[in-house]
Amino acid sequence: MGYAEIYKRSITDRNAFWMDQAGAIDWVTPPTQALFDDRAPIYEWFADAEVNTCFNALDRHVAAGRGDQVAVIHDSPVTGTKTHITYAQMLDRVSRLAGALAAKGVSKGDRVLIYMPMVPEALVAMLACARLGAIHSVVFGGFAARELATRIDDAQPRAIIAASCGIEPGRVVHYKPLLDGAIDMATHKPDFCVIFQREQERAELIPGRDHDWDAFQKDATPADCVPVKGSDPAYILYTSGTTGQPKGVIRATGGHLVALAWTMKNLYNVNPGEVFWTASDVGWVVGHSYICYGPLIHGATTLVFEGKPVGTPDAGTFWRVIEEHRVVSFFTAPTAFRAIKREDPQGKLVGDYDLSSLRVLYLAGERADPDTILWAQDKLGVPVIDHWWQTETGWAIAGNPMGLEPLPVKIGSPSVPMPGHEIHILDEGGNPLPPGELGAIAIKLPLPPGTLPNLWNAEDRFRKSYLTTFPGYYETGDAGYLDEDGYVYIMARTDDVINVAGHRLSTGAMEEVLASHPDVGECAVIGVSDELKGQLPLGLLCLNAGVTRDHAEVTAECVKLVRERIGPVAAFKHAVVVDRLPKTRSGKILRATMVKIADGEPFNMPATIDDPAILDEITAALKPLGLAARD
Ligand code: COA
Ligand code: AMP
Repeated sequence: MGYAEIYKRSITDRNAFWMDQAGAIDWVTPPTQALFDDRAPIYEWFADAEVNTCFNALDRHVAAGRGDQVAVIHDSPVTGTKTHITYAQMLDRVSRLAGALAAKGVSKGDRVLIYMPMVPEALVAMLACARLGAIHSVVFGGFAARELATRIDDAQPRAIIAASCGIEPGRVVHYKPLLDGAIDMATHKPDFCVIFQREQERAELIPGRDHDWDAFQKDATPADCVPVKGSDPAYILYTSGTTGQPKGVIRATGGHLVALAWTMKNLYNVNPGEVFWTASDVGWVVGHSYICYGPLIHGATTLVFEGKPVGTPDAGTFWRVIEEHRVVSFFTAPTAFRAIKREDPQGKLVGDYDLSSLRVLYLAGERADPDTILWAQDKLGVPVIDHWWQTETGWAIAGNPMGLEPLPVKIGSPSVPMPGHEIHILDEGGNPLPPGELGAIAIKLPLPPGTLPNLWNAEDRFRKSYLTTFPGYYETGDAGYLDEDGYVYIMARTDDVINVAGHRLSTGAMEEVLASHPDVGECAVIGVSDELKGQLPLGLLCLNAGVTRDHAEVTAECVKLVRERIGPVAAFKHAVVVDRLPKTRSGKILRATMVKIADGEPFNMPATIDDPAILDEITAALKPLGLAARD
């Protein structure tokens, strides 16, 4: 069957289609049906089945004779180390950690927060939770203590597993003090913490609460897999919404397994035993799905890379890794390629390496600009496949099914809907728009397996954020259009979420931080275009009456404050003081118009603007920053 037939069946005969795909998974109790719609529009998949994720990622491969195959390669240019871990070794490590966690009382349904850099122990921790049916929540290392505290209070973890430090080029990230600060700030306190001590920085342990990773599990009895219901949460992953309170996206176990298993061959064209490399971070959804779970569920080898595309040590690092580990499919964000292209525009370093193992390059996380795609295609000589997805969906909404039936690539489009995703373009009233017309991208319910069934402890917010604007649909928050061939084009977000270096950030969260500065009366944060990172946040600040301090001092304090509260990942480096912000007559700040001004793009004067003169003031304020360069 080709793509068109498969896709059609996934929509017209959902149950049968996904029951067939469920055959790739080893169930404790097999599902009798795929979709459970009795609580529609809240849907569940494989709810009457029992299964264990870790069993599918490790045990079954060892039992099938893959024990000596490498499961995880750790390649870390920042520490100068490379490690290979076989499936049998992973199983041993994971079962022992799970045993130690179980001995301390962690059991099915408990939450465990994981705060670790790109080390194999992060995967061991995730899989140990999965083995026990505990729900992990991984937090990206670039977030500050306060963000960690917010997640601790929301997920209420029984335990926290962290590393002593992370390594960024030129600096050690002190994870443990950040963790201690977060636990101090949080209302909820974990029962205990397990700290993986890295030799680059050993952390001080708090007696009675903190346990050293090695000592903790030295004498542990390995734990067996605990079966969970297909609809039980496998993990919670927090993502940015429009406010400072992140959304806890739930991933349900059965659908997660089935959907990821389907993608490994059909979308990524990877066979068991081959090396799949995703250069992202375990703290993001891409890292959950394709650094940890997808490749292991499929019996492939996954690569955990601890470094940057440039500077560790040079712009040839990616090519060195592909050559050395014989990577067949490589997945990263366009921003990584922009960074390489900037450093080595001619792609000279590519020629120094043998990339013959590589079949396809996959890009996602942000819009893939044509220049980057063409550069990558030209230099690597392999198809470059853009695909579109979100933390919420956990896997691609649209892509090009390279292992099933490669479709023509149209540059600027992440291609066609993946199974079960019925994409529609709607106008403001929720009416379907014809091909070529720009509108809100919505997906007809139910969403397929693997996508979010709900938000953690926030069903109202789930309904309000995703299901209310267009009844019967999931609102993606992206705007775009479909062409005559059914290819989708993603043009912009419809909310205040911005995308910086492939990382999703909330301007609302940054505004909340800025508004807490004593001299700031009002503020707005917008995402302005950036050649390297796609977008960069920019703060516009109105100071309180009577503040006579030097503006540069206030903006510097604001930049520092965002870094302290949200973390370096916010990449918030620029703020400017303005007298007034442009608003509609009803008081809504005209952020989208300011973005156009900052990017030097033409804009229509909003009909509801209160005072058009303010736009000239904004233009004048942005010019010294090298923005608003139109004339
Ligand atoms: N722990 C602590 N700090 C981190 C971090 C981590 N895991 N990851 C990033 N940071 C810090 C960076 O050091 C930087 O700090 P600085 O302001 O002191 O320089 C800041 O957060 C911003 O990070 P980023 O925007 O990623 O910039 P960068 O210069 O470090 O790297 C890229 C830029 C393009 C090379 C990098 O973002 C990249 O490789 N991205 C592609 C892969 C990816 O992450 N994709 C995600 C979804 S697929
Ligand atoms: P995240 O949840 O962090 O993965 O971010 C999801 C958002 O990133 C999407 O809603 C899009 O706005 C953007 N995005 C992800 N992939 C793509 C892509 N291939 N093309 C355009 N935008 C993308």
